[in-house]
Amino acid sequence: MGEDGEIKVGFFDSGVGGLSILRAFKKLCPSVPVEYLADTEHAPYGNRSAEEVLRLSENNSRELLERGCDVIVVACNTATQAAIKHLRAWREDIPFVGVEPAVKPAALYTKTGVVGVLATAGTLNGRLFNETKERFAKGVVVLAAVADEFVKEAEKLAGVSPESVCQAERERLLNVVKAKVEPLMNAGADVIVLGCTHFPLLNPLITEVCAGKAQVIDPSEAVARRIKTVVEDLQKRRIS
Ligand code: DGL
Repeated sequence: MGEDGEIKVGFFDSGVGGLSILRAFKKLCPSVPVEYLADTEHAPYGNRSAEEVLRLSENNSRELLERGCDVIVVACNTATQAAIKHLRAWREDIPFVGVEPAVKPAALYTKTGVVGVLATAGTLNGRLFNETKERFAKGVVVLAAVADEFVKEAEKLAGVSPESVCQAERERLLNVVKAKVEPLMNAGADVIVLGCTHFPLLNPLITEVCAGKAQVIDPSEAVARRIKTVVEDLQKRRIS
């Protein structure tokens, strides 16, 4: 809980990725107190086993609960895949909000019938992701690409916008983005889903590469709205 009994929201990720969700939430609810935990000691999560990510997610959640958080945001697609069901069963009294690749809206928006999903291996191999794909993207081709390079680059930027780096560095980053995104668009994808919370930190460059060819789906605002609803529900329950 915050100082005068307000609801406090805890966010965790392997590193800076979850800041994309935290920033969107702060825009929506600037006065709600937050805690952010970056598990840099065990980063990246993308190629760890689901069991390891589950254990790390439980440790991160425990730490955030000790810091007085009332709501936990699993601000990481990889950790959501591996751990959200377990976390909800582990602490039934705590609301957990997760992040999953936005396959459903992508399947609705696509006109070519092909969508591209950029994520970590852990996310793309996850059960939730594959169930969502089965359920909401029937008849749509979902091209999945592991983009660990984007995680590394977002970490190097450490929260700084790629728009504020020098021209040579910007060109280099743009080429890293092109190498991953262009093959998806060349294969017909007209929607690109950012399925890792690190990727919105590179979004100005991803959007530039996709301009006129594909729509980019950044889930940060939708997740922030979901957190806001969860906080408001909890506030109402405490009052009544
Ligand atoms: N930001 C995370 C995600 O959404 C994890 C990236 C990583 O640590 O590999 O998947």
